[in-house]
Amino acid sequence: MTRKRAAILISGRGSNMVALIEAAKAPDYPAEIALVVSNVPEAAGLDRARGAGIATEVVDHRPFGKDRDAFDRRLDATLEAHRVDIVCLAGFMRVLSPWLVERWNGRLINIHPSLLPEFKGLHTHERALAAGVKQHGATVHFVAPELDSGPIIEQQSVPVLPGDTPESLAARVLEVEHRIYPLALKRLAEGRA
Ligand code: GRF
Repeated sequence: MTRKRAAILISGRGSNMVALIEAAKAPDYPAEIALVVSNVPEAAGLDRARGAGIATEVVDHRPFGKDRDAFDRRLDATLEAHRVDIVCLAGFMRVLSPWLVERWNGRLINIHPSLLPEFKGLHTHERALAAGVKQHGATVHFVAPELDSGPIIEQQSVPVLPGDTPESLAARVLEVEHRIYPLALKRLAEGRA
């Protein structure tokens, strides 16, 4: 079996990244985590990736200022240099240019902490509680130029419980995220997404 080379793009703690790294340790998992890239040099996830023996790169967005295309070109070159097949966004807090999304079309996925198409964007748990929904959850989807859109690969719900706070709800959703992201990457790497 030739395993697909996956890169994970992070900006922070990287708990979804860790879930993917752990899943990819299984001998029959169809993808290996070949690279972790962060746009934030001090992201805690970078240390966790290094500790797991994974190659890491930092592409700091700040020197690029408003030149998003130049940042994305550097990102793209980094992915190519590591011969990456699949890109997984996992708490990556930058919006990618349409050309980059197009270039990686079908090979670029994201995890979002809501039942898309509900609650696109930020602060999903606060907004779910404010809306009074009974079910919330997480979604892994292909990235499309429009934010938090694109075909869904995996989605799972959790109940919203009486007395939930954004934190308690986020923790319940995060458990689901850690389950469905490895499933989605597996499906994509096997050509079943
Ligand atoms: C997750 O909730 C993910 O769905 C969202 O950002 C958070 C990242 O958490 N896009 P982590 O860095 O994977 O722990």
